[in-house]
Amino acid sequence: MSNYHIKNFEEYFQVYRKSVENPEGFWEEIAEEHFTWRKKWKTVLKWDFTKPEVKWFEGAKLNITENCIDRHLRTRGDKTAILFEPNHPEEPSEHISYKQLHERVCKFANVLKDKGIKKGDRVCMYLPMIPELAISVLACARIGAVHSVVFAGFSSSALATRINDCDAKMVITSNGSYRGDKTIDLKGIVDDALDKCEGVKTVLVAKRIDSEINMKNGRDEWLQPLLDEAYSDCNIELMDAEDPLFILYTSGSTGKPKGMMHTTAGYMVYSAYTFKNVFDYREDDVYWCTADIGWITGHSYIVYGPLVNGATTVMFEGVPSYPDFGRFWEIVEKHKVNQFYTAPTAIRALAKHGTKLVEKHDLSSLKVLGTVGEPINEEAWHWYNENIGKKKSPIVDTWWQTETGGIMITPIPFSTPTKPTYATLPFIGIQPALMDENGNELKENQVEGRLCIKAPWPSMARTIWGNHQRYKDTYFSAFNNMYFTGDGALRDEVGYYRITGRVDDVIIVSGHNLGTAPIEDAINEHQAVAESAIVGFPHDVKGNALYGFVTLKDTSEDRNHDNVRKEINQLITDRIGPIAKLDKIQFTTGLPKTRSGKIMRRILRKIASNDIENIGDISTLLNPEVVQEIKENSL
Ligand code: PRX
Repeated sequence: MSNYHIKNFEEYFQVYRKSVENPEGFWEEIAEEHFTWRKKWKTVLKWDFTKPEVKWFEGAKLNITENCIDRHLRTRGDKTAILFEPNHPEEPSEHISYKQLHERVCKFANVLKDKGIKKGDRVCMYLPMIPELAISVLACARIGAVHSVVFAGFSSSALATRINDCDAKMVITSNGSYRGDKTIDLKGIVDDALDKCEGVKTVLVAKRIDSEINMKNGRDEWLQPLLDEAYSDCNIELMDAEDPLFILYTSGSTGKPKGMMHTTAGYMVYSAYTFKNVFDYREDDVYWCTADIGWITGHSYIVYGPLVNGATTVMFEGVPSYPDFGRFWEIVEKHKVNQFYTAPTAIRALAKHGTKLVEKHDLSSLKVLGTVGEPINEEAWHWYNENIGKKKSPIVDTWWQTETGGIMITPIPFSTPTKPTYATLPFIGIQPALMDENGNELKENQVEGRLCIKAPWPSMARTIWGNHQRYKDTYFSAFNNMYFTGDGALRDEVGYYRITGRVDDVIIVSGHNLGTAPIEDAINEHQAVAESAIVGFPHDVKGNALYGFVTLKDTSEDRNHDNVRKEINQLITDRIGPIAKLDKIQFTTGLPKTRSGKIMRRILRKIASNDIENIGDISTLLNPEVVQEIKENSL
């Protein structure tokens, strides 16, 4: 008998069957066995996808930080909870034990309280990957404040939109950040953003770099002196199971970003249970997820999932390419990492640099490898399997979303036979369905359709902050009584799923979700631009890159197109961030449109992907002649 959490493929099927035949009984058992509750729930699950409303463990009282920290103190007090690896390899790593984490979170929580933050208030973090980020997240959770972490690569105006959308009272930032050989002035970005955010009363500033910054009197304060003065114990706030835990923004295909709201108990149960089983985490393992806490992967699988399990979780401040492309492998060797979880785009970037830098390092500690964020191509999968896992460490290709809170489709390591590019089978408790365009479920194998989920799972987002109607329209209206993911997928002859990509106007670039609408809005702000359309095209490292088709107001004007290109990318950088910059910008005299005026992106996608032969029928277009022009001038 094997010693894995899920022993073999048969056991997976057994547990899976149990979980879908009696979800309430199944999750109740898990919740009772693995977590600390201050009061038990009255009902395990109430749901109605037509409203939509989902409630897990209603009536229960708990605090997620008691589960992440306090309950480990007796048995794991001196064990490393967070292992911080700084940007520069020569700066020493920092081992923060569970005891120290307790003290630091309590002190931080007391600072928040002292500054007037109460249960239910929103606090925005705009921080690099330094311990203060994880600690401030936990400090909020300890006192019942709702954290909203904004990835520190977003621009000041993207930050301002997110601060205002959730009405955050406080921003926590640092005076700057290190990223490879660069430093970034985070506080300057926050200052710009706050010109547009009247609700923010306090800015706490962690000191990370040596730099001079402006501190606004009455608003900005250095964090460290406050922490030094703070009391090192802080009682937990008792939270209801369905009290909000955090808001995290994700791009929509239209309009402003969606603040996905996650609640307490269900999120805790599912992130912890998936973490343990998907990575087969063992007591003395060192686990490393390379994501940023600014994304859902960092929330669920750097902070909450690992800490609820009493794990040692590595937090890396830097980038895979600094000081060279061997940095990841150096860290794996240095900390004897057992589970390594990264994104396909990182694997492709590293693979490009060959295996010399891999071979320099002892990677024998690795047991499980993971990927997330976008489809992994066959070549990258094999490179990862052969060179990093040495064909011994199973790859868990985990499909999930900000909205789902936790991993949804994935192999179970050492149980599910893997298949390159396939996320394989639903995790325990998850009931996927493939739907055709008419809303019928495709029941057989060897089909392709739109990926939906038929029943609730504990960590699903409960709403979009401040806009429940949008939540309903986006996720619960396309198909009757189902959660629609926005992804397409196919199911092979044995029932394995392969995610084929987004079927809406979201494009995934280097694993980052980007909506076309906000990028087009940024371009259209350029005074010379009349109209624009963005599509994705395949890119060998980023997965997808962005291609912009732009019409200018005055086509006769002799403009320096390269300058306009630069200005457009600058506007995008200012409005969203450098991750949304366009790789290619083609100027055209018009965009292909239907008779009702809708831009036919399908055609533009084909042209951008150099699939010019298969453009299909254009006779229904309002302006078919423009297609020829765009084809001829394509980049
Ligand atoms: O299209 C899917 C893709 O990433 C989207 C979700 O992005 P986000 O909310 O930023 O969360 C990313 C981290 C969980 C999905 O709708 N995606 C995520 N994982 C995979 C994937 N596509 C293919 N394979 C995956 N393993």
